[in-house]
Amino acid sequence: MPDLPATGPSAGSVHKESDNALVSELNLILVGPPGAGKGTQAEKLTEDFGLPYFATGNILRAAVADGTELGKKAKEYMDAGELVPDDVIIGVILEALEGEEASDGFLLDGFPRTVPQADALGEALQKVGRKLSGVLLIDVPDDEVVKRLSGRRTCVKSGHTYHVDFDPPKHDEVCDQDGSRLVQRDDDQPDTIRKRLAVYHEQTEPLVEYYEGRDLLRRFDGSRSPTDVHDHVRATVATLRLEDEL
Ligand code: AP5
Repeated sequence: MPDLPATGPSAGSVHKESDNALVSELNLILVGPPGAGKGTQAEKLTEDFGLPYFATGNILRAAVADGTELGKKAKEYMDAGELVPDDVIIGVILEALEGEEASDGFLLDGFPRTVPQADALGEALQKVGRKLSGVLLIDVPDDEVVKRLSGRRTCVKSGHTYHVDFDPPKHDEVCDQDGSRLVQRDDDQPDTIRKRLAVYHEQTEPLVEYYEGRDLLRRFDGSRSPTDVHDHVRATVATLRLEDEL
């Protein structure tokens, strides 16, 4: 397992955001079923808190598109709605967190997704005197997931997502932000969505209890509107940071 960067005694928990303010480091995880709105909320949270964002799904899709070794190993699992094996994904994400970009905080989306991944992350952070600030669970019922994912469209360039009914682009199949083409993800077909949900319940849901037991879990009702969910998550993250500074 690669080492995370060593940080000084105080830099492990705080960083300097402006000339006269020391603020706590935010090390956050977004967890929830496929289609819960993790990516939608992450886009807003990274703006709110200036956090570097690491989404394993995006990293893996880019690797598949580029035809790298990682992409070749991951593709068949992703297409089948299965999880990529722990030994493939753990090294990738810990290496990303080792970089300078993540040294003042991070937002993880889609990792950890199994108990061994959570253990590996916890050990790597502990080794360098860092800790998680919170685990944000965005929950929605399975039927809502199926509706959302079958109508999702994703910008090929920026990854920004739309929904044909709930959040349509101004012009069909074209991204409002940069005019790029919108596509349907390969794993957003009904059978694969059902498989991803089953995998979530079996392999990822145990993390709810795992992080609840460590007093890190915060729950959000993802069936509310994206704005309502965002207001609630943003207020909670701001409180987490304040509590850490006290
Ligand atoms: P990944 O890309 O992480 O997929 P996921 O977890 O299934 O999540 P999604 O990206 O599908 O959904 P989301 O919650 O981000 O929802 P979104 O905001 O887009 O992973 C893909 C695959 O990679 C996995 O299956 C696995 O194979 C592999 N993988 C990744 N990480 C791994 C790991 N750690 N270990 C092993 N394998 C791994 O929103 C969905 C739709 O709903 C959009 O259309 C959006 O516009 C709409 N929407 C969002 N919020 C709302 C709302 N509040 N109301 C109405 N509509 C909304």
